[in-house]
Amino acid sequence: MNHLLTLKTLTQEAFLELLSSAQSIKANPQQYSQALAGKSVAMLFEKPSLRTRVSFDIGINKLGGHAVYLDQQNGALGVREPVSDFASNLSCWVDAIVARTFTQQTIEELAEHGSVPVVNALSDLYHPCQGLADWLTLKEHFVDLTQVHLAYVGDGNNVTHSLMFGAALAGAKMTIVCPPGHFPDAMLVLEAQALAQKHGGDIVLSEKLSALENVSAIYTDTWISMGDTVELAEIKQKFMPFQVNTQLMQQTNAQLFMHCLPAYRGQEASAEVVDGEQSVILQQAENRMHAQNAVLLKLLG
Ligand code: CP
Ligand code: NVA
Repeated sequence: MNHLLTLKTLTQEAFLELLSSAQSIKANPQQYSQALAGKSVAMLFEKPSLRTRVSFDIGINKLGGHAVYLDQQNGALGVREPVSDFASNLSCWVDAIVARTFTQQTIEELAEHGSVPVVNALSDLYHPCQGLADWLTLKEHFVDLTQVHLAYVGDGNNVTHSLMFGAALAGAKMTIVCPPGHFPDAMLVLEAQALAQKHGGDIVLSEKLSALENVSAIYTDTWISMGDTVELAEIKQKFMPFQVNTQLMQQTNAQLFMHCLPAYRGQEASAEVVDGEQSVILQQAENRMHAQNAVLLKLLG
């Protein structure tokens, strides 16, 4: 493992090892307090962030390393100077690059032209750190991931893609329910389904909420992702029947509610569910740090 650009290129062994390592770091933080001593990480953000920015910064600090945050005060990446120069220059000073970019292509370019590991902190296509943290959260609740049935309801997006590859690597079942025209990328679905088949998992797509039976957890995300140009009023009518509310939680026997955040209460999920007893959103947020630290240790430790 040289980078973490997506979960889809991980072996099952590497994926499960990252989850175990995250559990170990979470349980014994003191043991890892000098794991990244003397190492520096550049954090490059083209888009806003609360969880990713803070969990990386604090996480790196807890491992004894140093983080440098770079926002886009000079405009989008690649405007003032080519992405390739950005990558090669940063590689002179830092030991790893964490990047949140509009396109996956920019992340791939950073990895190609830099000489240090690159970690995808969200692109248009993937959110692998989120996917890892969420499967870690599911492991904490259900222990045996092969018995987990994760439901994803709403807009098929970057988070869906990473959850889907996580399900495939975990050998779990995942059912994705979206309004017509809002399914995850068809090619990526096929790849995830092939990977799932190899590991005893199953990825199912449907336009009907009735496809959700006996699910372990229901996951949803914003209907409008950063960089999307669609108007809320335009899609609201289409998405409203897919809102995760108490009725859907009950009718599917879901034990947990999950969301990567930020959450828009009253849209993709009702406030009652987001803030309810079954919601594990803050556990997911906390686990971002532990999962990412496992990634950094693997790449730099
Ligand atoms: N879930 C997540 O990535 O949150 P931020 O956009 O706040 O980083
Ligand atoms: N799908 C969302 C996730 C935010 C963490 C977005 O890309 O904006």
